[in-house]
Amino acid sequence: MCGIVGMTGERGAAGSVYERLKLLEYRGYDSAGVASLDGGKFFVSKRRGRVYSLGGEIKHLHGHTAIGHTRWATHGKPCDENAHPHVLGKFAIVHNGIIENYAELQEKYFKGVQFNSETDSEVAVRLLNYFYDKDPLTAVKKTVDEIAGSYALVVMCADFDGIIVAKNKNPVIIGYGNGVNYCASDAPALAGLCDDISVLSDGDIAVLTDKKIEVYDGNLEPVMREKLKNPALCAELDLGSCPHYMLKEINEVPTSITKTCQAFICTYDNIKSYLSGIKRIIITGCGTAYNSGLIGKRYFESFARVPVEVETAGEFRYKNPVIDKKTAVIAISQSGETADTVEAAKLVKSLGGKVIAVTNSPYSELTRVADAVVPVEAGQEICVAATKSYTGQIAALYLLALTLCGGDVEAGAKKLVAASELCFQLIQRLDICTLADACARSDGVFFLGRDLDCAVATEGSLKLKEISYIPSEGYPAGELKHGTLALIDIRTVSVVIITDEYLAPKSLNAVEQILSRKGKVAVVTNIKDVTKKLDGKVNIIEIPDCDKYLSPLLSAVVVQLLAYKTSLLLGRDPDKPRNLAKSVTVE
Ligand code: G6P
Repeated sequence: MCGIVGMTGERGAAGSVYERLKLLEYRGYDSAGVASLDGGKFFVSKRRGRVYSLGGEIKHLHGHTAIGHTRWATHGKPCDENAHPHVLGKFAIVHNGIIENYAELQEKYFKGVQFNSETDSEVAVRLLNYFYDKDPLTAVKKTVDEIAGSYALVVMCADFDGIIVAKNKNPVIIGYGNGVNYCASDAPALAGLCDDISVLSDGDIAVLTDKKIEVYDGNLEPVMREKLKNPALCAELDLGSCPHYMLKEINEVPTSITKTCQAFICTYDNIKSYLSGIKRIIITGCGTAYNSGLIGKRYFESFARVPVEVETAGEFRYKNPVIDKKTAVIAISQSGETADTVEAAKLVKSLGGKVIAVTNSPYSELTRVADAVVPVEAGQEICVAATKSYTGQIAALYLLALTLCGGDVEAGAKKLVAASELCFQLIQRLDICTLADACARSDGVFFLGRDLDCAVATEGSLKLKEISYIPSEGYPAGELKHGTLALIDIRTVSVVIITDEYLAPKSLNAVEQILSRKGKVAVVTNIKDVTKKLDGKVNIIEIPDCDKYLSPLLSAVVVQLLAYKTSLLLGRDPDKPRNLAKSVTVE
């Protein structure tokens, strides 16, 4: 959330920052801005809206040092004044995070001063000027010492031809180029620009010029940060012939499954050693990652008979959880940066527990906190709504559960690869237009199922509401009659997922109950008998038959494509849903 890019040493740096900011829009798109520095003078362009809205002005931003920001509003509404960079006196800044004590700092240092914006960030640029005495690094240090909260803070000073970057609890990487150096919130912004990056640690302050990068710790002692290979590839950021990243990423679901299997086999021995002696599991995560945890719970409980609790990270971290040496906490996060998930993992560590991260981001904060990392190899996911990372997480959890129970992981991986092939075929042939049209015209959409189907229903509902804004609920089919049935009428659509033969008769009862209240029904199924019974009565979406435990991969593709098509019918932008951002690095 909030994307930051900075570079120094390149002619027309503002133009490059502008282009690179576009690659970080998944982190927020309420407003955008770029500032450049030339001969001690700042040039600024910023406004409410998307990055491209700055396009016409960028050529007027001179100099070979520039910083930019794409905002997800936390403090202060999306508007031109609240857009970053904030430029004042000797300094220009962009900030990602929340300055929790901004009101106290305002009161303490700037009582009676009229601020230019409603943001918490403005206090930082004022503090920089307040503390400045010819040495910008010291001013940054004194400023961050005053700040309580989280920040990735990128600073330009009129008297210094370079960039200073400070970090606490919000991600920022630095990139080593040739005569140009960079910083950014995330690797995609630097794809193709530099081969080597370093991830800054909390408390670090980095000073970038065109010639070198120096990193200092919180005491301003020089420190070395490991150089890592830049994981972002330009090819992954290319939309190709797809109109949206969401569709591109759904098309990549099969690869996400197969690559995750390969990665798991490579790290199997390491992962196995972390699972020995585990008698209880807690799974935590947010949004889609939490939903994949619901599926993981069933795998661990069915295969290994180990009890599992699944809790959203935002709840878990404030609950004084009971953790002991036989409990493993599995923290799932695509980005590995979600604040609640990372803080939940840190809490577990502070209580002496074990954390296993399941993540798509090998250099993320979560991987640094965790004892062991189970890689999800979904590749870069740009669309705010998670798709291929969800199926990658399911694949990883399936193999992890097999590992815990001492099962045949190679055979499990083969089953997953077979399921990925079925996903591929399904994506090619699925026609979801009629159902999407019904959803787009409806007042509300309910997703129902039992057991694993219920878990996918929860994710289907999240996907649809995220990108179409249609009210939606994911619900256990058996609970329908205990409340949700009151909402069913001719203006609602219910999508019932039925892939378990044993539970099918029970879910069919729910279908009949909805039909008798005149609700519209679509059934996603791979059971021939269900198709036969409902033929002509409801819209049936047939999916290929596969291992019961892996059918969520196939029904997931259906609900993802349904959400995508519905969003398009309603004229929404599926890649950039209103009010949302992909990496939620604040509480
Ligand atoms: C945000 C995104 C969701 C995502 C969730 C967790 O809310 O909009 O799509 O599922 O964060 O993200 P993570 O990176 O931790 O998986």
